[in-house]
Amino acid sequence: MAKKDFLQLSGVDQATLTSLLDRASELKALMLKGNPPKDVLAGKTVVNMFFENSTRTRCSFEAAGKNLGAEVISMSTAGSSVQKGENLIDTAITLDKLLPSAIVIRHAVAGSAHMVASHVNASVINAGDGMHAHPTQALLDMYTMREIFGGLQGLTVAIIGDIKHSRVARSNIEGLATMGANVKVYGPATLMPKDMDKLCKVCSSIEEAFVGSDVVMGLRIQLERQQKGLFPSAGEYNKFYGINLERMRLANKGAVVMHPGPVNRGIELSHDVLDSPICVKDEQVTNGMVTRMALLEMLCKE
Ligand code: CP
Repeated sequence: MAKKDFLQLSGVDQATLTSLLDRASELKALMLKGNPPKDVLAGKTVVNMFFENSTRTRCSFEAAGKNLGAEVISMSTAGSSVQKGENLIDTAITLDKLLPSAIVIRHAVAGSAHMVASHVNASVINAGDGMHAHPTQALLDMYTMREIFGGLQGLTVAIIGDIKHSRVARSNIEGLATMGANVKVYGPATLMPKDMDKLCKVCSSIEEAFVGSDVVMGLRIQLERQQKGLFPSAGEYNKFYGINLERMRLANKGAVVMHPGPVNRGIELSHDVLDSPICVKDEQVTNGMVTRMALLEMLCKE
């Protein structure tokens, strides 16, 4: 039986991840034929609670719910009673009384999705909580890699950028380890957690990150960190840590570039990569919708 909630990838076994990716593949085929399976969650309700900005995650959860025939209610901080001082748990309990099958939550505070999950009856899906986890991003990333390479076992994935503050990196490291892929990371020393080498290989040069990699994943640089002196200027960041076509020539034949978005153009990814078919960031968006459909089905269907 599926667990009630989907809060992080640590503790989610390979069989469950494989089954979600397999189902997402079937759902993608239906979607590409223009045939959304509207009966799957007919009569069910999904609530989106977004306390932090989002384009991809929020819109793809909305699309995923609607494609499965669910009613989707979306709440964001602006325009809600959070502005009048209502707290997170009271807000979640209020929305749970609309009897949704699932609540999808994004919040700036790590642990907020776990806290909500312990107060509501609905299944809770973590759509990103602070620096902690973004499990559905990792799910869609793994789907994209599996679709391109046919499997994840033995694949080498380099994640480059602000590892310290990245919930995307953390969730990918967890999920890819479960699926048998090799992960290495590289970025400014000020943005690398001290104990990262216990989880995966930490590269000591940009060349080491690219050589032997099948996937090179850039992470969004949070420009506000530049004010704190955690990385050099945006231009220098691109020079020392940017993903460009010249560096991609060091990677394995057929290697691709991924990015969770939103991209700071010309900083994490150079324009030549963004204009190249080896960059699959747009495919990742479609894959986000179908993997979230598979997840909503797993959690909400009786
Ligand atoms: N990848 C991602 O989480 O993007 P959004 O912030 O636009 O949802």
